[in-house]
Amino acid sequence: MHFQWYPGHMTKARRMMQENIKLIDLIIELTDARIPLSSRNPDIDELGKNKARLILLNKADLAEETASNEWVDYFRGKGYTAVKVNSKKGGGMKSIQSVIQEACREKTERDRRRGILNRPVRAMVVGIPNVGKSTFINSLAGKACARTGNRPGVTKGKQWIRLNKNVELLDTPGILWPKFEDQEVGMKLAFIGSIRDEILQTEELAWELIKFLNTGYPGTLEEKYGIPAAENACECLRNIAEARHCLVRGKELDTEKAASILLEDFRGGKLGRITLEKPEAEQEGRY
Ligand code: G4P
Repeated sequence: MHFQWYPGHMTKARRMMQENIKLIDLIIELTDARIPLSSRNPDIDELGKNKARLILLNKADLAEETASNEWVDYFRGKGYTAVKVNSKKGGGMKSIQSVIQEACREKTERDRRRGILNRPVRAMVVGIPNVGKSTFINSLAGKACARTGNRPGVTKGKQWIRLNKNVELLDTPGILWPKFEDQEVGMKLAFIGSIRDEILQTEELAWELIKFLNTGYPGTLEEKYGIPAAENACECLRNIAEARHCLVRGKELDTEKAASILLEDFRGGKLGRITLEKPEAEQEGRY
């Protein structure tokens, strides 16, 4: 299975990111809690060196809780501030302002030692497409609300959201380009819907998801669709098509439609809370 990310988009995204990073102190990086590594782009470490860093495991409502806790520990072990959130429903959002302060503590103290007082920390949200950047910003801004206008000079044309007297957030998120030279990473991004379905083979993708689920979460598909255990992924998809009455011209099984149903169910959390990569596997060099 092959995926593409157009170089033109990537160059533009990178340029925007470099310009905006100059204006800020803290990078709030959103990852998808179901694939915390595959939904990151490690280039942000290079682009954002010397900046305070906060990693959010967003969509934590769709991921396995214990795995998310392990990922939080994993990122903390690497020196980031890390927390899990559900931007859509607000889970974990209450404490986010204090988490932001914590992530910036070193910088605030450095400022204080230099006699710089009351300068708000400037932050920017970054992440790959569809990870929840806008939802997160709206959730935060909904509470804070005071949007500051354009400022002359350095911040010309930028809109800042004042979260409190200590923190201002750039209201446009930075788009990170997904990094899927590794086909397995590409596949996981496709599972969660970060790569447009039109450029993918839906059935092939569904087979891969079935293989993954049957290994990592055995029994899940049988229970959800009321289907018998199958010999292989292809048969399993046919079973789902049958159970869901997906038929072409009233008789042949429409496995393409069954594949879309399966992917939608997975993406919407209807198969339960599922994490596609675990930190212990990553530490062994595979994920
Ligand atoms: P982006 O700016 O990074 O591109 O992402 P955006 O906020 O547009 O969010 C992409 C999708 O992810 C949206 O769903 C949004 O509701 C959903 N989402 C964001 N955060 C969370 C979360 O913490 N949990 C869950 N379960 N979903 C989240 P959508 O289908 O595009 O829109 P809608 O159906 O929610 O309106």
